Amino acid sequence: MIQRPRGTRDFLPDEMERRRHYEGKLRSVAKRFGFRETATPIFEDSELFIMRSGPNILDELYAFKDKGDREIALRPELTAPTIRMFVNNMSNEPKPIKLFYFGQCFRYERPQSGRYREFFQFGAELIGSATPDTDAEAIALAVSMIEELGLKEYRLRIGHIGVLRQKLLDVGIPAENMAEILQKLDKKAYDEAGPIMEVLGVSQNSMDEIFEFTDTIGGVEVLDRVPGEPGDYLRTLASRLSAMGIDGYDIDLGVVRGLDYYTGVVFEVEAPVLGAEKQICGGGSYTLSQLFGGEEVFSTGFAIGFDRILLAMEKEGIEYESEGIDVYVVPVSDDTRPDAARITAMLRKAGISCDTDIMGRKMGKAMKYASTVNSKFVAIVGKTELESESVTLRDMSSGEQKLVLISELVKEIQF
Ligand code: HAM
Repeated sequence: MIQRPRGTRDFLPDEMERRRHYEGKLRSVAKRFGFRETATPIFEDSELFIMRSGPNILDELYAFKDKGDREIALRPELTAPTIRMFVNNMSNEPKPIKLFYFGQCFRYERPQSGRYREFFQFGAELIGSATPDTDAEAIALAVSMIEELGLKEYRLRIGHIGVLRQKLLDVGIPAENMAEILQKLDKKAYDEAGPIMEVLGVSQNSMDEIFEFTDTIGGVEVLDRVPGEPGDYLRTLASRLSAMGIDGYDIDLGVVRGLDYYTGVVFEVEAPVLGAEKQICGGGSYTLSQLFGGEEVFSTGFAIGFDRILLAMEKEGIEYESEGIDVYVVPVSDDTRPDAARITAMLRKAGISCDTDIMGRKMGKAMKYASTVNSKFVAIVGKTELESESVTLRDMSSGEQKLVLISELVKEIQF
């Protein structure tokens, strides 16, 4: 038997229905915030990701040469493709441009619970604006999406990568070593960051100061430790968030993010119920457009790990009940099959989800099947009922039955 590739999943109908249901909810929140949906190719020139996505992503890239000898990669994320699309097609449009997307990403990672090689992101990008209001809008959208799905326990942390970068530059860390050190600080792996910084000539005092800074977590009051313009920026952001009713977050000056392109505010959301792979959302502000041949344009965005948030909801016991179908039409005998087919077609045309027996089953078995497909009603098509142009309609939840004229059936079911 051929198995599916490692780190991928099949989605059976129950799971797929659940996924579509929640995907629809996210879509409707994004639209409520004035964002519009886009789609980009599943594969891109590898160059797009190599340019700025950071060492982790590059190690994880699914890259190959196509038959025309082009270096191609399956997308590991959707920010770089979205900005490429913006530079190619949308750079003259009025700003801000508010886009959202839903699609699969590929990362060659070691699969485990909540970490896959093929996974789905629901993300949004706000292009062409660089105000605290912009970051607040992105964070508010992320929070509203999570709330809409009904996840109870989550933790939002907001930081500023620009401050940390500046601190590292100030103690003499060259730009080319920045990514490596930030990666270590992201994991709070001070014992690994220390020796690298020491080789670069950073004093123990400066190192301690930086480690302490990345360990600064708390309420808005910790912003007193952020000097100058970034401090003011974060305070304005906090006040905008507060105006929108968003208060329950931590300021965490150690939020680094795994991707290299962030420049200012960064944020992450985690769901503690998930254990090791608990990050369900990540984002921040960045500039990428100039790398792809456009002008420098500031943007802010985020992506929710769709698979992870669904996993967290499941762990919290949020149940999804399958919608099933509206009606299952059961012919009582073979000679009423043509009428059953006619009634089925009529209901479907009227927009009612409807199914009927196609296996020549006897009534009892057909009724059983109707409950396995979770049908709300069963329409029983018998000879006696047909004489009065009627069927027997059974409400499957109450068990009530009544004779209904075929001409009244649509109204009866829709009501
Ligand atoms: P990211 O943090 O790399 O950011 O990914 C976003 C989310 O995708 C993560 O928080 C996580 O929930 C989910 N995720 C990542 N890798 C996997 C995996 N292997 N399996 C399952 N879920 C995973 C980005 O990708 C940025 N493009 C976000 C962004 C948009 N920044 C600005 N705009």
